[in-house]
Amino acid sequence: MRKKIVAGNWKMNNDIQQTEALLAEILNKKQDNNVAKIVVAPTFVNLQAAVQQTAGTNVIVAAQNMHQAENGAYTGEISVGMLKSIHVNTVILGHSERRAYFGETNSLLAQKVNTALKHDVTIIFCFGEELADRQSGNHFNVVETQLREGLFHIDKNDWNSVVLAYEPVWAIGTGETASPEQAQEMHAFIRTLIKDNVGEAIAENTSILYGGSVKPDNAREIFSKPDVDGGLIGGAALKADDFLAIVNAI
Ligand code: G3P
Repeated sequence: MRKKIVAGNWKMNNDIQQTEALLAEILNKKQDNNVAKIVVAPTFVNLQAAVQQTAGTNVIVAAQNMHQAENGAYTGEISVGMLKSIHVNTVILGHSERRAYFGETNSLLAQKVNTALKHDVTIIFCFGEELADRQSGNHFNVVETQLREGLFHIDKNDWNSVVLAYEPVWAIGTGETASPEQAQEMHAFIRTLIKDNVGEAIAENTSILYGGSVKPDNAREIFSKPDVDGGLIGGAALKADDFLAIVNAI
């Protein structure tokens, strides 16, 4: 049975006080029997505090990025070893904002994937088409290329450490959510792609999250689709009540 996951990508939000306050509210209000695994992804400077605050709970702390090199002259970057040294063992890779603003290509992401897997770090691998791709009917090709070039080279054994996050770029932060049918159509396409290229067992066992304007009022219908295994949440993750309403929608 593949995992149901709701992950909050906090992006460049919350200082240390705001991080501690939001986490305290989430920890105080969350249900103990919720089906979904809960992941929160604060910014780098707040990761260690978040790990300490969530110790002993079922909330997982993830990083929003990492460098592909083990160490070296990369001013401002963070290595996988640094993340593991503060007990962060999950990382978001390939977010569309990293691709758009920082020029992260499929081949660069393949290197980040390799480094993360080499160190037993679980990956939340993001991908998704631009509006123009969808309008031209090219969205399936775009997503297939992102997966083939960024991820499909990995060993079959490493798929246990991979969570996929389909995030149509046109739905991120826009309030324009993919319809549940659009999400299901793409998730089913992705699962078939994995089945055909990696194998049926891995395809069935890989969690595929949807991201892009998931809110308390649309989460339940999106998550009800058979190939949607949860969500990667941006804006709504910054309010404990909204985030937990989405968590409880699974
Ligand atoms: O990584 C999740 C994020 O890109 C989605 O953002 O604000 O549309 O939920 P938002």
